[in-house]
Amino acid sequence: MCGIVGYIGSAGKTVNVLVEGLRRLEYRGYDSSGIAILENGHAKVLKSEGKLDNLLKKLSLTSFNGSLGIGHTRWATHGIASERNAHPHVSGGTAVVHNGIIENYQELKDELKKKGYVFNSDTDTEVISHLIEDFLKKGSSFEESVRGTFKLIEGSYAVAIVSEREPDKIIGVRRFSPLILALGENENFIASDIPAVLPYSRKIIFLEDGDVAILERDRFRITDLNGHEVKREIFSINWDPVAVEKGGYKHFMLKEIHEQPHAVLDTIRGRVSEEKGDVYFEDLENVVNGIKRIVAIGCGTSYHSCLVGRYIIENISKVPVELDFASEIRYREPIIDEGTLAIAVSQSGETADTSEALLEMKKRGARTLAITNVPKSKISRESDAVIYTYAGPEIGVASTKAFTTQLIVFYLLSIYLGRYTGRVSDQEGRRFIRDAFRMPQLLEMALKLDQEIKELAMEFYHYRNFLYLGRGINYPIALEGALKLKEVSYIHAEGYAAGEMKHGPIALVDESMPVVIVAPRDGIVYKKILSNLQEIRARRGKVILITSGEEAHELNGQIDRLIKIPDCAYMLSPIIAVVPLQLFAYYIAVYKGTDVDQPRNLAKVVTVE
Ligand code: G6P
Repeated sequence: MCGIVGYIGSAGKTVNVLVEGLRRLEYRGYDSSGIAILENGHAKVLKSEGKLDNLLKKLSLTSFNGSLGIGHTRWATHGIASERNAHPHVSGGTAVVHNGIIENYQELKDELKKKGYVFNSDTDTEVISHLIEDFLKKGSSFEESVRGTFKLIEGSYAVAIVSEREPDKIIGVRRFSPLILALGENENFIASDIPAVLPYSRKIIFLEDGDVAILERDRFRITDLNGHEVKREIFSINWDPVAVEKGGYKHFMLKEIHEQPHAVLDTIRGRVSEEKGDVYFEDLENVVNGIKRIVAIGCGTSYHSCLVGRYIIENISKVPVELDFASEIRYREPIIDEGTLAIAVSQSGETADTSEALLEMKKRGARTLAITNVPKSKISRESDAVIYTYAGPEIGVASTKAFTTQLIVFYLLSIYLGRYTGRVSDQEGRRFIRDAFRMPQLLEMALKLDQEIKELAMEFYHYRNFLYLGRGINYPIALEGALKLKEVSYIHAEGYAAGEMKHGPIALVDESMPVVIVAPRDGIVYKKILSNLQEIRARRGKVILITSGEEAHELNGQIDRLIKIPDCAYMLSPIIAVVPLQLFAYYIAVYKGTDVDQPRNLAKVVTVE
C-alpha cells in the first residue's frame, strides 16, 4: 500500500524527482513519508509524520545535493503512523524503503537483537536494513548482502535500497508487491507504480517475483535471488501525464466521475463490430471454450461490479455465475473444476486478496480471466487471459470510472459468450452493441445532474445515517452508493436489497433517516420498489428517488427529492444510475470538509491480505 520512488542520475534533479514522485503516489499511502539521499557517500535522511507537505516543510530548511536517492510514502501496517516508524529505515549507512509485510519479522528481529542490533522503530521493515548491514559487515558486496537478506525473508515486499558502501547503485527487490523500473538517458528510476515516473520516462520494466534489480546511472541488471541474470521485457507506456493530473477539477474523484463517458467509450471501441453484432477479445477463446459456469471475485467496488456482472451474464449469455468476496472464497470449499471460468475483477490488478483467491482457483483447475485497469499488473500476469478496462489511471481512492468500465466489460463479455455459444443471435448482438454505444452520450446527460446533486448534498450533508435501496440489477448500485458515501464522507450508510427492507432495516426508518431508492424504470422491479417508498413515507422517512422515464414526475409530492436519470437499456442501467450516487457522495464529502481523494484509513491499492 505504500508508495516507493527511487532515482539515480544528476544531483540537481534528485530531490525534485523524489518529491514529485511521492506526490503522485500519495494515493497509495499517506500517513508519513521520508527520503534518503546519498551525498558525498553519506546517507542523509529526512522523515515526517502526516502528509507529504510536512516533509516538504522540513525539506525547505535543508539542502540536498546527491545524485541518487529513495523516497517513501507510508500506510501503516506494523507500528503506528509516526516519524520513527516512517521509512527509510537505516542501519550502518544502508537505507531501505519497503511496501508489503514481512511475515517472519519477529524471529528475525529476535536474532538480530541477540547480535546487538538496536531497533529504532516498531516496523517489520527495519529487519531488512539490519540484515543487509549484517551481511555487509561479514564482507559481502552490497548485491550479495541484499540477495542473502531476501533469502531469509518471508512475506510480501517491494523494496528500494541504497548503501554508503557502494554509493553508485540503487537495488530493488520484489515479491508479491508491485515494483517497476523506468529507464532514461544517463538516469534511471524505480517505483512502486507508473504515475510516479511518467513525466520522466515511458520505458518501463515490470519486475517479477524474486527479481533483484541493480540500477546504476547508465545501466541496469536484473538477477534472481541466486544471482543468475534474468531478462525482462521493456514496455512502452503511452499514458498521458496530463491525464494523471487533476485537469482543472478540484479533486481527482470529481475529475474521474466526469471522465466516465470517455472511459466507457474507450473500453468499447475497437472491440466490437456493430455490423456483425460481434465482440472481440484477444486470447479469450481458449479460456471460455467449454466452460459450464463462472465464479467471479473482487473486493470493495470491484466486488459490486461482479454482482452486476452476474445479472448481465446470466441474462444475456445464460451461463450460471456464482460470486464471492475475494477475501472469503478461500475460506470455504468452492466447487471449482476445469469447467469453471474464474473471473478476478480488480481496478489496480494488485489487490492481495483477489490475487490469492485467483491463484487458489487456478490450483483447483479453473481457467482464469482478469478484468483490470492496470497494464501488466500482478493479477493480469497471473491470469490465462486479461480484459483491460481503458479507464486511464484512477487516482482518487474511491473508485468511480474504473467501476463503470468494469460494468461495460461485463456487458461486452456477456455478448461475447452469448455469441460464442450461439445463445445471442446476429440481430440481438447488433442491438446490444448499439445500446452500448449510446452509453457515453447518456453518461454525459447524467453528468448534467452535477449542479442538482450539489444542491441535494447541501440539503442532506448533516444527516448521520443513510439507507440505500435497490432491486434486481440495481441492488448492487445501492450497495455501491452506500459504499461511496461511507468511504469519502464518513457517514454511516447501508445498502440493502429493497425487498429485505421490511425484514429489518425498516425499524431504523424515521425522519432522521434519509432513504435513497435506486429504481430506473422497468416493468416489475420498479412497481415493487414503489411500495417500499410508501412504507418509508408512512414512517416519515425522507426519500430521494433515482429513477427514469417520462412518468417520473407523477411521483412529485410523494417523495422529498426526485432525481431523473436518462433512460437506457435495462442491463446497462447501473452504469447510469451510479452517477448521481457518486456525485452525491462527492459533494457531501466536500461540504463536510473531508479529504475526498485520500479518505482516512483507506488506501488505493491494498497489497496485504
Ligand atoms: C481498496 C480501495 C477500494 C477498492 C478495493 C479493491 O479497498 O479503497 O476503493 O474498491 O481496494 O481494489 P481493486 O484495485 O482490486 O479493484
